[in-house]
Amino acid sequence: MISDSAIARVAAREAERFRAANSSAFGHHAAAKGWFQSVPFHWMRDWPSPVPIVSASAQGATLTSIDNQTFDDFCLGDTASLFGHSPPALADAIAKQAREGLSFMLPTERGAALAGRLTAMFGLPQWQVTTTASEANRAVIRWCRGISGRPKILTFNGAYHGAVDDAFVELKSGAPTMRASLVGQVHDLTGTTTVIEFNDEHALAAALRSGDIACVLAEPVMTNVGMVRDAPGFLATLRALCDESGTLLIFDETHTISSGYGGHGVAHGPTPDLMVVGKSIGGGVPCAVYGFSEAVAARMAQLNQSRPAGHSGIGTTLSANALAITAMDVMLSDVITLSAYAHMLHGAARLVAGLEQEIVAAGLDWHVTQVGARVEFLTCPTPPRNGSQAKAAMRPELEAAFHLFLANRGILLAPFHNMMLVSPVTGDDQIDRLVGAFADGVRALKE
Ligand SMILES: Cc1ncc(COP(=O)(O)O)c(C=O)c1O
Repeated sequence: MISDSAIARVAAREAERFRAANSSAFGHHAAAKGWFQSVPFHWMRDWPSPVPIVSASAQGATLTSIDNQTFDDFCLGDTASLFGHSPPALADAIAKQAREGLSFMLPTERGAALAGRLTAMFGLPQWQVTTTASEANRAVIRWCRGISGRPKILTFNGAYHGAVDDAFVELKSGAPTMRASLVGQVHDLTGTTTVIEFNDEHALAAALRSGDIACVLAEPVMTNVGMVRDAPGFLATLRALCDESGTLLIFDETHTISSGYGGHGVAHGPTPDLMVVGKSIGGGVPCAVYGFSEAVAARMAQLNQSRPAGHSGIGTTLSANALAITAMDVMLSDVITLSAYAHMLHGAARLVAGLEQEIVAAGLDWHVTQVGARVEFLTCPTPPRNGSQAKAAMRPELEAAFHLFLANRGILLAPFHNMMLVSPVTGDDQIDRLVGAFADGVRALKE
């Protein structure tokens, strides 16, 4: 067991160590007062260091800071750079595109092939592009409500699908409640969002029986509340219950694209009616896509015919701009390949084995979960079955101290829970350094 006092001691010592080694980062933040709270985007304050590390450049799975520190990067832009920073083919193609124009509100020649590549990889026949995964999720929810005429959506407790207000409902002591953290929402979303625990077939059957739920929006494995794996048979039951009740099934594969080539739905089934994937699909260029079946496409076309012309609430000016299309086309043809996945899965297996060995050696009651190239250590003995269990097992102060310890030793983890990503260019040496630093961190916390 790791005590609170040990965590506080390590956190204080590591903060001092960070201050001593990152003077340029402190200088940068002092000079950046024009940004609200000194950063251009508030999540950048969520790192455990006294001030955020300031990136100078990143290549492959290595990031260099303005303090000349190099990091083995297992955060990879919180999945945006899952396939490595600036793959050469992408860097070349976007440099060329930059010379040929960036945004026209017209299709570009490259786009036709890209739609085919998306179908070849993810299986669904029809596609649309957005600028972020959040926006894609908002779009699919809107389409599902529009084509079904049903008002409600269903999500799982503890899920995160981006800046999607409809998904900001959680269970508090078993009762659906709007998340207290949500800013500026004046409508009570609990009337139109049903939330139940992941892996709860009975609650799912009961909720869908009502017949007023347009869609289930789900990650096939939960990845934003620690990681919560689907219980055997749960996803098949989810598919069957959606079919029985005429509810559309959306998989948000933005993170579970780590599962395997084509994402979790292709690697393990079942096939959803619609899917969303963002972040890594453009290699760091802002873009996302949503795909859907022919049946859904037909209903969307019918809806379009029946409604008056005008703004639909779906799409923004920059959606599917030339840069985004080029980025995704290169990523799908040259970077997100079967051999890339082979390397990622090999690396992830090495990481899991290393961490498990150290956990056993330290006598800790922790465990490791893996979703393909996405690995997480959870500070509880058994895998949580749902979001409530996962949240209860979290120890934010322990995570922060641990992450800072690792950062001070040249290892970058995403600031949110204990998620580690293995890219196609992550070396075994980087994985071994992470495992070594993990063991050192555990020792420091047990002293
Ligand atoms: C599963 C999932 N879906 C969607 C999103 C939203 O992505 P973005 O912030 O790029 O819009 C996230 C972000 O973390 C996510 O984890």
